[in-house]
Amino acid sequence: DWTASNVVDDQVAAIREQVGEDRVLCALSGGVDSSVAAALVQRAVGDQLTCVFVDHGLLRQGEAEQVEQEFVAATGVDLVVVDAKEQFLGALAGVTEPEAKRKIIGREFIRVFEQAARDVVEDRGDAEHPVKWLVQGTLYPDVVESGGGSGAANIKSHHNVGGLPDDLQFSLVEPLRALFKDEVRQVGRELGVPDPIVDRQPFPGPGLGIRIIGEVTETNLDILRRADAIAREELTQAGLDKEIWQCPVVLLADVRSVGVQGDGRTYGHPVVLRPVSSEDAMTADWTRVPYDVLAQISTRITNEVEEVNRVVLDVTSKPPGTIEWE
Ligand code: XMP
Repeated sequence: DWTASNVVDDQVAAIREQVGEDRVLCALSGGVDSSVAAALVQRAVGDQLTCVFVDHGLLRQGEAEQVEQEFVAATGVDLVVVDAKEQFLGALAGVTEPEAKRKIIGREFIRVFEQAARDVVEDRGDAEHPVKWLVQGTLYPDVVESGGGSGAANIKSHHNVGGLPDDLQFSLVEPLRALFKDEVRQVGRELGVPDPIVDRQPFPGPGLGIRIIGEVTETNLDILRRADAIAREELTQAGLDKEIWQCPVVLLADVRSVGVQGDGRTYGHPVVLRPVSSEDAMTADWTRVPYDVLAQISTRITNEVEEVNRVVLDVTSKPPGTIEWE
């Protein structure tokens, strides 16, 4: 029988057997998947676990603070925050091709973790137990879509599956590998992970880096972050958070169009709203967001984000479109 409590029991036993006395590192992003994966591993091996939160500079507004406050307050987990903004932006400079971005982001992640692993051992003065294991919140759809499932095509390199380097120094602990998102949420509730985290909409590991069509620069990130914050605020205010699976906001940094804002002609960038409804992210439909909510988002973004002079709505299902644009 599939029950959340059976999954917890089975995984706790499996994790204990897998990692033994070794030290474990978890890549915590603040999203549902990594949070539930971390809570499971903590249940299994307690303080053998250290969570590492990488601020790669590709986060949305307020996200770093949320992880530090909400998750740590709820679980008391041992957390290390690494500021790696410059490292990631440096590595991404000049890169526009989606798979190249994904591979670079995945690679830099692993580098940061390898350094964090050495630091954790050093800080604890416990050379007997080096970090051997890395926890990742990989779900079943991630495995399938990265070509890991039998006969599946490689659609995208999800950074937590396909983009790992060949010389990886850790072995992976992936306790959610057989689960779909709704199952992960049930397991999270079973473990006492708080609702605001369990109910959080999905956000990709590579973050805003794959929502900028064009180069990932500080300037483009800043534009996208402001537009995204407005869209999220308005959708939440309209009570649509449950109905919408997630709503990527995408900056078309390589595209410009003519507009008229304030006193004159502008030549700005469009942003795309991509609200989707889905059960498991394998397929999705575009969400019929009420026109007045769309109008409010459009008005606010074009008023408050001066670099953006056009807001467009993506009305493509998956397939043929994927949820993210890259
Ligand atoms: P796509 O764009 O493939 O997205 O339809 C399906 C779901 O996966 C999320 N996504 C990712 N999540 N690492 C992640 O952890 C990734 O590299 C990644 N790429 C896409 C996406 O937001 C959607 O929920």
